[in-house]
Amino acid sequence: MSGVKSNELRIVAFLCNWCSYGGADTAGVARATQPTDLRIIRVPCSGRVDPLFVMKALFNGADGVLVSGCHPRDCHYSTGNFYARRRLEVLKHFLPILGIDPGRFEYTWVSASEGERWKHVVTRFTEQIHALGPAPRFDDADTMTSVVQTALSPIAPLRCGESNLESIKSCIRDRLQSVDCVLGWKMGRDALHTVPYCIRKEADLDELVVGPTSVHNLANYLRDHRGKKTGILVKGCDAKSVVELLQEKLIRREDIVILSYPCTGTFDMARVEQDLGRYQTLDAVSMTETALCVTADGKEHIFPIEQYAQSKCYFCTERMAQLSDYAFGAADTPKDKAAPKDTPPELALLDSLSLPERMAFWKTNMERCIRCYACRNSCPLCVCRDYCISDTRDPHWTTQNDTSKEKLFFQVIHSLHLAGRCTGCGECQRSCPVGIPILALRQHIARTIRELFAGYEPGTDPNAVPPLLGYAAEEQSIKEREW
Ligand code: FES
Repeated sequence: MSGVKSNELRIVAFLCNWCSYGGADTAGVARATQPTDLRIIRVPCSGRVDPLFVMKALFNGADGVLVSGCHPRDCHYSTGNFYARRRLEVLKHFLPILGIDPGRFEYTWVSASEGERWKHVVTRFTEQIHALGPAPRFDDADTMTSVVQTALSPIAPLRCGESNLESIKSCIRDRLQSVDCVLGWKMGRDALHTVPYCIRKEADLDELVVGPTSVHNLANYLRDHRGKKTGILVKGCDAKSVVELLQEKLIRREDIVILSYPCTGTFDMARVEQDLGRYQTLDAVSMTETALCVTADGKEHIFPIEQYAQSKCYFCTERMAQLSDYAFGAADTPKDKAAPKDTPPELALLDSLSLPERMAFWKTNMERCIRCYACRNSCPLCVCRDYCISDTRDPHWTTQNDTSKEKLFFQVIHSLHLAGRCTGCGECQRSCPVGIPILALRQHIARTIRELFAGYEPGTDPNAVPPLLGYAAEEQSIKEREW
């Protein structure tokens, strides 16, 4: 990045060795006049360009990033640019949610003989970046003092009703001989909290808790039980994680026994605790049809589930698992199954903000991050945690600097690694001890994936190929970059 003249901006270009780098060379040999803002990085193929390369450049001061490879069907490695096209298109849609203008990133195709075209591409992109001006720096972004939260109304009634606990216990009891364990929940530090629980013998069933305080997605523990026959209790959203793990062949169907029950909503325990305040003694916890009743230090508190549910529950259309071996009851049908998916509350909030406001939103929120990585550790689909790239020193993706930018970059890594895989279970956000609304990043990518790939929903079909693991020679919803 050194040697930038005063009227130049910092533009990074990743060019494939076999076509676009040759095209740039051809333009140079022909002495074509071109802007000089570009700093070229030669890569073997556009398929080698991880979207994180682009994000790293933009986070570290680039005003624009260009990726160029061989034309579709001309890739030296046959399909590298087909894969790249999907990933880079998703990335282009992802930038605005961080407050980055999507015009700062483009990808295109230039062959080795197209010197004239290279000149055109480079001139046009440079003009585009100059029109946008120097990129706003994350470190210089404003901080946001407050945002207006909208009241939520559920698309189907939320309740604290019966959980068929006795039938569930009886079913587990009958199957304990044939499985290594069954994953469920039990009371945690007090009657208000539940924790994940491994049921191995009949006596363990006495502690089983199933209901609106059973918030953990137990699919997160399935990989620890790989190779052992394991039963798992699931809500509708948890079951999608199980399906996604099956889809990615991280667990085997014959090893899993899925026991599903109709979820009627789960509590946002962080909000419950916040409004309950500190207490010395928890006297009683009970449920009515519609609310959680807590008596602490002699004082009664009522938490209606329609006001204290997790945000994902208001828009849930999958209250019952689509794939299960044993189902206990049936779920309510949502009033409108089609409408809600586009507007989860975290995302609706960000949609309403301008690009600078979004940058300010993330800067302000990430200042609270303590880098505990609970979001990563609670994610059922964060599968390479034994070699997480955020922990590596070679390459060194994230530093230990305690800055909002570094912390947000980790969220960018996590979100992009979950593109087309995240089932929206919300465990990342639920487990965040400081309540950062990081689910919005995953929801935004999920919405993009739906728009680009014919309504694709992760975790619904165990035989489907996740969109970013495949390609189509002719993409229906991705327009070719002709300029
Ligand atoms: Fe050029 Fe694959 S070799 S895009």
